[in-house]
Amino acid sequence: AVLILLGPPGAGKGTQARMLEQKFGLVQLSTGDLLRAAVAAGTEAGKAAKAVMEAGDLVSDDIVIAILRDRIAEPDCARGVILDGFPRTTVQAEALDKLLAENGQKVNAAISLEVEDAEMVTRISGRYTCAMCGEGYHDQYKQPKLDGVCDKCGSTEFSRRADDNAETVASRLEAYHEQTAPLIDYYKDRGVLRKLDAMGQIDQIAHGLESIVGDAM
Ligand code: AP5
Ligand code: ZN
Repeated sequence: AVLILLGPPGAGKGTQARMLEQKFGLVQLSTGDLLRAAVAAGTEAGKAAKAVMEAGDLVSDDIVIAILRDRIAEPDCARGVILDGFPRTTVQAEALDKLLAENGQKVNAAISLEVEDAEMVTRISGRYTCAMCGEGYHDQYKQPKLDGVCDKCGSTEFSRRADDNAETVASRLEAYHEQTAPLIDYYKDRGVLRKLDAMGQIDQIAHGLESIVGDAM
């Protein structure tokens, strides 16, 4: 199955994708994570993407599509994928449809996580992750059970993203409204759009998502 999590920055795409990955044995494909890895590794794509990401703008379609195309071709993705943060433009959505069609596949569901702008700013500014395993946390909403120790792997090292500051968040929201929100109609027209209220608790949203994903698979 090919599932897409659509939604603004901070909507909880990464948090939910990681939970769905475990529950359904799908592979989470986050273009944000792939780009951050490229930046850290200093590849050509990473060098081109670094300043754009720090400014909160979208990386060029060519770079993102190339990165996604390479990753989705890896054998583990045959189990089914959950796309987190891709596609983000109409050009990317069309490229994805074409890529999938070449392999006799299609998008099974595009799930739009609906969150108000003010809530996204709160979620993003309190976010941090485990530096070892990548588990996500939040200053108010999701703290480790034992103070300063990752629930998943026991690490005591955490990090915050370079683009999680108030100024960049405003640009990221603007990019979402201008370039990504039109995809809601794109998938509606293709009959695969599902909307989910994502203002509630993490577990409550996970529950709603599980039934949508269960139906789509
Ligand atoms: P990317 O990494 O995709 O970031 P994003 O879209 O801005 O999304 P986030 O990771 O910020 O949010 P999320 O929805 O995953 O929320 P999370 O689960 O962490 O992209 C980064 C940059 O890379 C882009 O700006 C762009 O430059 C580039 N890029 C990436 N893909 C691209 C593409 N396809 N094309 C072009 N450029 C691309 O949750 C946030 C916080 O809230 C966490 O702390 C979490 O614990 C907490 N939380 C989650 N759910 C809840 C809840 N229900 N209640 C309370 N707290 C919650
Ligand atoms: Zn960890």
